[in-house]
Amino acid sequence: GAPMDVDLAPIAEGMAIKLFWRGKLIFVRHRTKKEIDEALAVDIATLRDPQTDQQRTKAGHEPFLVVYGNCTHLGCVPLGNSPGDPKGDFDGWFCPCHGSHYDSSGRIRKGPAPLNLPVPPYAFSTDTKIRIG
Ligand code: FES
Repeated sequence: GAPMDVDLAPIAEGMAIKLFWRGKLIFVRHRTKKEIDEALAVDIATLRDPQTDQQRTKAGHEPFLVVYGNCTHLGCVPLGNSPGDPKGDFDGWFCPCHGSHYDSSGRIRKGPAPLNLPVPPYAFSTDTKIRIG
């Protein structure tokens, strides 16, 4: 699959978009300051799949989180991208299939899913554009 360019400018703070790359669902989220602060404040020793927020975002571009959009339990699509969606107990995503809660860094915090939502390979090409792949 070819790399894919994504324009981040239309994604309002607090919102996320869905896209497909190489046949896989990806979420691109523009996090609020509160969501970033919450993600940074977590003691990773308490996590099931320990990763810092810094390992999951790009330095200087902390508002943006890019993750694969299928639950790591059995593959359902978690909710949390649109206004009014449940975001779970940790301001991220909630998987309605069996109740997995992901935080605002896409890390698994509660429920049956074993792993964080993985981060696909990507880089910033400008302050408002990424290239996935
Ligand atoms: Fe998401 Fe089971 S598929 S909790």
